[in-house]
Amino acid sequence: MVSRVIPVAPFDLVVFGATGDLARRKIIPGLFHRFVVGQMPKDARLIGVARREMQSSEFRDFIRDSLLEFALRAPDDKEQLDAFLDVVTYVCVDAAGDTGWTELQAKLRDDAVRAFYLSVAPALFGEIADRLSAYGMATPLSRIVVEKPFGKDLETAQALNQTLRRNFAEEQIYRIDHYLGKETVQNLMALRFANSLWEPLWNATHIDHVQITVSESLGVEGRGEYYDQSGAMRDMVQNHLMQLLCLTAMEPPSDYNPDAVRNEKVKVISALKPALPEDIVRGQYRETPGNKDSYRDHAKDPHSRTESFVAMKVNVGNWRWSGTPFYLRTGKKLRARSSEIAVVFRDPPHMIFPKMEGRRGNALIIRLQPDEGITLRTTIKEPGPGGLRLAEVTLDMTFADALAGGGDTQDAYERLIMDVIRGDQTLFMRGDEVEAAWNWVDPINAAWEASSREPEKYDAGGSGPEDALMLLHREGRRWREIG
Ligand code: BG6
Repeated sequence: MVSRVIPVAPFDLVVFGATGDLARRKIIPGLFHRFVVGQMPKDARLIGVARREMQSSEFRDFIRDSLLEFALRAPDDKEQLDAFLDVVTYVCVDAAGDTGWTELQAKLRDDAVRAFYLSVAPALFGEIADRLSAYGMATPLSRIVVEKPFGKDLETAQALNQTLRRNFAEEQIYRIDHYLGKETVQNLMALRFANSLWEPLWNATHIDHVQITVSESLGVEGRGEYYDQSGAMRDMVQNHLMQLLCLTAMEPPSDYNPDAVRNEKVKVISALKPALPEDIVRGQYRETPGNKDSYRDHAKDPHSRTESFVAMKVNVGNWRWSGTPFYLRTGKKLRARSSEIAVVFRDPPHMIFPKMEGRRGNALIIRLQPDEGITLRTTIKEPGPGGLRLAEVTLDMTFADALAGGGDTQDAYERLIMDVIRGDQTLFMRGDEVEAAWNWVDPINAAWEASSREPEKYDAGGSGPEDALMLLHREGRRWREIG
């Protein structure tokens, strides 16, 4: 499989928070990979910005170490590594003060795309956006990239949108949800809208329900302080799972362009019915003999009621989906790291064969990670004599096998950074989309915060709380096994 790499225009990428974890693990390695494959032009530049005083040479050493640790291709590619480091410089800037801004401005070229990537605490987004304007750096060729969390509720998200829009037009604002950069997530759109096979079946007449699972085996180690203020609802459901739901449920856009796609996603979020308390399960992991740490140990709060797991039933109130629930499930410290969307079809209206014990029916499973691919569960005759007995088999396709070598699989961040430079907002959240998602999630969080209920405890390394299983059992359905 030959990948087509189209170089982007020259750019200056300014990374605020350049010495932070995300920059070290994802942003800079992602850029380096694009450099190695020839997509990043030789005259593009990476300008690291942070509060720490250091020379560009020291920053380059720091980048070299980060790349050797986190960039797959760096250890074998010393020559490329040196060439990449040549385009890296550093400026010490006080985001909330006046130090360093003039030096930063002097480094930027007027005729190149400039992207400001804010990999910093959200409290600094406004300060930085205001100063970029004040120092004349917010030009028509500028883009600003912001990481999640984008607010913690509707009010804070609106305030953040206002601050950004004071200085940048909506077309210049790139709100990252890295799930949209994942290969299989985009494949979901290709599967739905580049094939004629699925669309006639993609509705409540044929689909019984949809299960969206994002399961993680890691806990909140090292991030307890942030996470305890957030919980799975804000950290995962409001953004990543919501995006997966939108892409599964949305109407075909008229075109593959940013606004056509995002308009359809906003329509899905606006059609979500308010979630009922009995349709939501919150869990928190406890220690087991094999997994010594509980959520509360990491959160450093022995009484924390923050959820590390959510399962819920969601109804999309529109013609296509009326009567077909979407079940969402996400949690930390579960049995495996495994994310998938399972579209479970209805049974045939009239069965002429003997009943098959344990039959689960047709399903299309889109695996996001690991082993990205697609599985179709179908019913066949069990081979051999003895009458006609049914069996279920799967037709499996992994992208790695189907495309020799898996194609040029990129990390989500690689793709998203290049999209910023190209000026393509399709895989970024629009302001109204983020606000609509908070608008739906806020009452759920408010009800939770007002109640005295504890999250249900589940064993670290298990499949989540018992009530999450019941959520489907009570309706004669069952979750797919995690992993
Ligand atoms: C992040 C969340 O946005 O996504 C983390 O803040 C979570 O809590 C992570 O672990 C999951 O991303 P991925 O790509 O590993 O599935």
